[in-house]
Parts: sequence; structure tokens; C-alpha cells
Amino acid sequence: MKLMSVFTPQHPFGRPSRLACRQYAPLRSVAASAEGRYARPHVLAPFAPQDVGFVADPYPAYAELRRDAPVVYDEPTDHWLITRYHDVDALLRDRRFGRTYLHVASHEEMGHERPPERLEPFWRLIGAGILDMEGTDHARVRRLVSKAFTPSFVEGLRPRVEKIVGDLAGAVDGAGEIDLLPAIAEPLPVTVIAEMLGVPEADRHLLRPWSADICKMYELNPSPQAEADAVRASTEFSAYLRALARERAQHPGDDLISELALVVDEGERLTEDELVGTCVLLLNAGHEATVNSTLLGWWSLFRNPEQLARLRADHSLIPTAVEELLRFDTPLQLFERWVLEPFELHGVDIPRGAELGLVFGSANRDPEVFDDPDLLDVGRTPNPHLTFGAGIHFCLGAPLGRMELQTSFRTLLERFPEMEPVEEPRWRPNYIVRGLAGLRVHLG
Ligand code: HEM
Repeated sequence: MKLMSVFTPQHPFGRPSRLACRQYAPLRSVAASAEGRYARPHVLAPFAPQDVGFVADPYPAYAELRRDAPVVYDEPTDHWLITRYHDVDALLRDRRFGRTYLHVASHEEMGHERPPERLEPFWRLIGAGILDMEGTDHARVRRLVSKAFTPSFVEGLRPRVEKIVGDLAGAVDGAGEIDLLPAIAEPLPVTVIAEMLGVPEADRHLLRPWSADICKMYELNPSPQAEADAVRASTEFSAYLRALARERAQHPGDDLISELALVVDEGERLTEDELVGTCVLLLNAGHEATVNSTLLGWWSLFRNPEQLARLRADHSLIPTAVEELLRFDTPLQLFERWVLEPFELHGVDIPRGAELGLVFGSANRDPEVFDDPDLLDVGRTPNPHLTFGAGIHFCLGAPLGRMELQTSFRTLLERFPEMEPVEEPRWRPNYIVRGLAGLRVHLG
């Protein structure tokens, strides 16, 4: 079977994925032989992002892919899956791949259709956030926002973060049994990012539902309902932020929206669309992965009681433990890149316009880089996991995410040294923005 015969470019736009309503067929893919420069048909049982069992534990499937098919075309998702650490790391840093292609070519030139008109509010919003920009636009806007996320600026926020998490823990002290999601995992990062941007307290309850609806479009097969939800959320969220930014331009406060509103000039520095798109990105990215990392981290510890005991006995391990938890059960499993020029990897030719699925969750378990990768080791060093990405899109909020996680783990370890799970948690069905539906614990 020729590679090109199975490659059917039909994605209309940059990011995120848009495999609307595609039915998942049994996985039949074309894989590269590690030895030869040819493609052979390869039946891969395991890559099943629509299956909650796979979402809960994709790691055995990844091990098979890394070993037998490190570059593989997955027909149901129309993605080329890349699963080895060194490949994922190298491709993230290579400018021949982009989160969008619109900086170098039109949809038509890339062989894709334009996105349908009904999705315009969503794509207009997403396309104006730095995560989906490339080239000089990306550099210009990233520079404007990055000073709010430097390690030293974030360090200055630590006392405030400690206070927020301390108050949240204090509010549930004595409650016996709680769900960590609404009690700690969610309100901490939402409050922090909302305060940084200057979203009034009375409006903060809107952020989580808007973000959740927008994030549905990041999954590999958004349904028509998910598309409709994302379009509505994008419209409302954009209108809200546009109004807030205009108000802050008149009456600036001590917050990031005010700072950005003052440099909007429809040209040189920042357009209003870019302000809105980037603030929505910051508000969403600023909490989604942190919420999920908190619950996934605790669940990993509960499943590895000897590592939890080790951490309880020695809190100086918290920084390495947080890194290891982020590696061990990766909250954001896969990120995509468009292929801007044809290239070859492990003997497989991949055409321009193809879409890659860089499987971070697999890279983080690659035995080429991590000793005993399937073992949780809260003292693991070095730990060069790819959970925050690499290259020009490396997570802007990594210092903040790390500090929030360290602070919340420390607070819970100190205040509830006997905390234990009440039951096995349920997984949300999402694969890309992956997490638990909740985590009920007994505080002890
Ligand atoms: C544990 C928490 C977090 C994880 C695992 C995470 C992960 C990531 C990853 C993997 C990327 C790169 C995606 C790609 O290359 O395609 C990214 C980008 C980004 N993240 Fe995070 N993130 C986290 C927390 C945060 C926080 C707290 C913020 C705060 C604002 C944030 C803001 C961003 C932004 C703005 C980008 C886009 C950067 C760019 O395109 O230049 N993230 N994040």
C-alpha cells in the first residue's frame, strides 16, 4: 500500500482538530519499518482515543507504537502519530512544522477546504491567540505577554497562591469526605489566573464553562453538539473580554488585561482580536491543565502508596515529585503540527499539508530517555519530560503551573497527612485535555 493512497488531507484549518463526526473504523494504519525505507500495512489494535478505557491507560498501546511503528498514519483520526521522545522533541523545535500553516500558505494551497462559516467565531478567536500563531506575529505577541510569566514574577505570586490554597484547605478542614476537584483543584488555578488578568470576582464563575466548551474542539472528533457549544462559548467569551478590555483602556487597573488594552493599536503592537484571543487562551490554558494535573497527580500517588509514603516522609521531594507526576500521567496527551514541507522520518515520507499527532504521553514513557519509565519515582532526576512542550510554543505558564502544583501538593500533604481516596475515580471521555471527572477523598 502506498503512503499517499491512504493520506486524504481534508482538514480545513490550523488548530485544534476538526474531525467532525468521523466514525472510528478498526485501526488499520501504515507504519514505517524501523529497518527499511518502505511502508507496510500494519494493524494496530491500540490507538483508540474515543475509548475511555484507552484514555485511562494509553501507555501499553504507546509502548507498542514506539517499538513497532514510531511513525504511523492513523486513518480514523487522519493523523500521523509520532511516539518516540527524540522525534517529538525534535519536531517541536523544527520550523518546518507549524501549529497553523496560514503564515506560509492559504487553505487552498495546502489542499484543505476553508472552515465552514458556522465555525467562524471559534476560529477567529483561536487563530488570534499566540498558541495558534506562527512566525513574527507569534514572537511579537508572546513578547508582550511573557513578562507576566517569568520565573521571578511568578515567584512573587507565591505568597498569594499559598494564601488561596490555604483558605481553600481551611474551608474543608473537618469535612471528612470531599471531592478534590471543586474543593481545591479547580478554584486554585481559576482564581490565580483570573486575578492576574483582572477578571472581576463576580464574573469568574463564567470562565470554567466557557473554557470547557471551547476545549471540546481540541479533541480528535468533536461532535456537532461540541462544535455548537464551542461556537457559542467563543462568541460569548470574546464579547465579554472585548467589553472588559475597552473598559480597562478607559480605566486601567493593575492587571494584565489593562496592560495589554493600553498597547492595542490595530497594527504595530497588538490588535484587539489578538488581545481577546490571547487573553482567552491565557484564561483557559491557565487553569485547564493545572486542574487535571492536580487530580491525576494525586491519583498516581494513591496508586503508588510507597511513593506517597516517601513523599509524606520528606516534603523536600515536592519539586521533583511534581515533575514526575507531570511526566508519569501526562495531562495533555497529544499536540498537533501541520507539515509545511514534505519530510521523511524513519523511512516514511510525509507530504506537505499532513497533520502530525505528537504523542507527549508516549514520549514521556520512552525507555530511551527515562529509566524504568513505567515506574513512578518521586525523586527522579533528571526528568526532561515534554509535558510543557518544547520550541517556540513552550508553555508560557510553566513556571506558574509548577508553582501552583507545588503549593497545592505541599498544603494538602501538610494539612491532611492521612488523606486517602474513597473510591476509584471516573475518567472524563476526553483524550487530549485529559483528566478525572472528580476525586473523592477522605481527609483523615
Ligand atoms: C500543568 C499545567 C500546564 C501544562 C501541562 C501546560 C502545557 C502546555 C503545552 C504542552 C503547551 C505547548 C503546546 C504546543 O506546543 O502545541 C502550552 C502552551 C501554552 N501554555 Fe501551558 N500548560 C500548563 C499550564 C499553563 C498555565 C498555568 C498557563 C498560564 C497562563 C499556560 C499558558 C500557556 C500558553 C499561553 C501557551 C502558548 C505558548 C505559545 O504558543 O507560545 N499554561 N502549555
